[in-house]
Amino acid sequence: MTKKPYYITTPIYYPSSNLHIGHTYCTVMADAMARFKRLEGYDVRFLTGTDEHGQKIQKLADAKGVTPQAYVDEVVDGIKKLWATMEISYDDFIRTTEDRHVRRVQEIFKKMYEKGDIYKGHYEGLYCTPCEAFWTETQAVDGKCPDCGRPVEKAKEEAYFFRLSKYQDRLIDLFENNPQFLQPESRRNEMLAFVKQGLDDLCISRTSFDWGIPVPMDEKHVIYVWLDALSNYATALGYPEKTDDLYAKYWPADVHLVGKEIVRFHTVIWPAMLMSLEEPLPKQVLGHGWILLEGGKMSKSRGNCVDPVKLIDRYGVDALKYFLLREYTFGQDGVFTNEVMLNRMNYDLANDLGNLVSRTVSMIEKYNDGVVCGAGAEEGPDAELKAVCTGASAKVSAYMDKFSFSQALEEIWIAIRRTNKYIDETMPWALAKDPAKKDRLDTVMHNLAEALRIVSILIYPFMHTTSEKIRTQLGIDDQEIRWEDTFVFDCLSGNTVKKGEAIFPRMDVEKELAALEEMKQQQMAQAAAGQTACGECDANDVPEIPYKEAIDFEDFEKIDFRVGEILSCEKHPKADKLLVFQVKIGKETRQIISGVAEYFKPEETIGKKALVVCNLKPRKLRGLESNGMLMFAKNGDRMEFMTTVAGNGEVVS
Ligand code: MSP
Repeated sequence: MTKKPYYITTPIYYPSSNLHIGHTYCTVMADAMARFKRLEGYDVRFLTGTDEHGQKIQKLADAKGVTPQAYVDEVVDGIKKLWATMEISYDDFIRTTEDRHVRRVQEIFKKMYEKGDIYKGHYEGLYCTPCEAFWTETQAVDGKCPDCGRPVEKAKEEAYFFRLSKYQDRLIDLFENNPQFLQPESRRNEMLAFVKQGLDDLCISRTSFDWGIPVPMDEKHVIYVWLDALSNYATALGYPEKTDDLYAKYWPADVHLVGKEIVRFHTVIWPAMLMSLEEPLPKQVLGHGWILLEGGKMSKSRGNCVDPVKLIDRYGVDALKYFLLREYTFGQDGVFTNEVMLNRMNYDLANDLGNLVSRTVSMIEKYNDGVVCGAGAEEGPDAELKAVCTGASAKVSAYMDKFSFSQALEEIWIAIRRTNKYIDETMPWALAKDPAKKDRLDTVMHNLAEALRIVSILIYPFMHTTSEKIRTQLGIDDQEIRWEDTFVFDCLSGNTVKKGEAIFPRMDVEKELAALEEMKQQQMAQAAAGQTACGECDANDVPEIPYKEAIDFEDFEKIDFRVGEILSCEKHPKADKLLVFQVKIGKETRQIISGVAEYFKPEETIGKKALVVCNLKPRKLRGLESNGMLMFAKNGDRMEFMTTVAGNGEVVS
């Protein structure tokens, strides 16, 4: 039987800096859902990725003195490591700078253009020259740029527009007649009201910066980041070529999980794009709430971001995942505090689940050498225990269908708590004292083992490592985990259990709170000193350039520095920011491209001596090869050559 496909996506994250716990929330939910659907027998495709273009990234890279590509490569590396640490089971990770995406976005643009849904016009707004950014009247603050605070001027630039207005009626129809398309309900009402107000055509190209996908028929324009980003859900499946079977199999997506502030892009712009392309719409967009701190938002400058890696190092991946999924109600904002997190971990994981595992396995070892016997006659609370445990999976499924992770977990914990209560009610230690009650003791042990086995399956989508640890202790780690095994209560007879380490040791909350507080103070002190690399970044954070990680002398020695002389220089034909230099180094002349056009007139550079990194591998920049790197130093708003006395071009340090 062929499995039913299920396609789930997260937003693609901006690699402007490391992700904080708020970002991980959505990915953890998507991962739990993907694992749950796989367990239910679906053929799941789970997509995540990074949204790498745009002016903000370009500015951050400029400030750091690296190319935007090098900048995003480093951050994306960190994001991938984070997902590996968090054991996120994505099937594909798309980067918007990948060739497969760039090509396909250009094709999408062409299709919409050829259909007449994209036209060339003029964009008018308030322009900030130093930031190279357009702002609307409402975005500008007292006639000044909201980013840098300098005065803005009215300006007009040529741009491409998408006829969003054409799709207004179809979008109203979508919200009114397909209530499942956008949930929660409150967001659907919000969007419906927004669309009914009237939609303007959308400006979808920029010429003020070039870190983006070029408009295919007009390369001085780059495609607006949201058009580029939203397309990822389809380009990752091979659209529009459709040469492999991914698109046919998985499109339309079953669900796009997104944060509440980007619901509008996903439920207005994205469906309108798909309508223009005459492709089916995603079945559902779900807008989740935000994780906030008591003082408001997490921010890099305040140094108050909660770093998931630090929490994982201390408490483990599963404890963190459990907390995120259990504590917050889907669709609503929630507040993060260390105390709430530690109490959840202590009560639910150490007390309820941890105790159940250790008591059950220890007793079976103690009373029957670890062997689980068959069940005898049912009596006392047996029937109720069995009903609660075998009935839990249907309730969990019903909540998961509504993305109610917290309630799904609560159902599992009802079964866990019921089982703990069963131990208190049946008092196995008393039964063990009376040889005449051996049958009853065996039955109680059997029921406990079965209850725990069911729990191990139920928790699998949310905390698979813990599930596996429990199954190892039950002696069934070699067996396939199957959802249908949660309906039955007789799988373990004859099995031997084996006690392992405590799965969630109990914590001293006061001590942990003090340790976390100390870590936070250190982080805030580092932020004040401009050394942190965590969290969200706003443009005002840019001048604080943290030092890179220290390198060994051997690494430094690998760099071949020389002094060269600029023989000629001209503007790059395809990129306003780049200059193409011919540089004489010793007897050789090389072409080197550098992003310094805004600082120098080409003719001013001729004859200047420059420090050159000679052994950097050649690479193409907008179609031209660059062979090496010229070194400059920033002096306030100016850029200067790093000249020195040149002999044969060799630099000795
Ligand atoms: N790149 C766009 C998305 C493009 S999708 C085609 C973007 N990136 S983002 O990195 O800024 O945000 C990604 C997601 O993280 C958003 O859904 C956002 O809501 C979520 N979160 C960022 N901070 C958050 C919290 N504090 N809490 C919960 N989610 C938060 O937007």
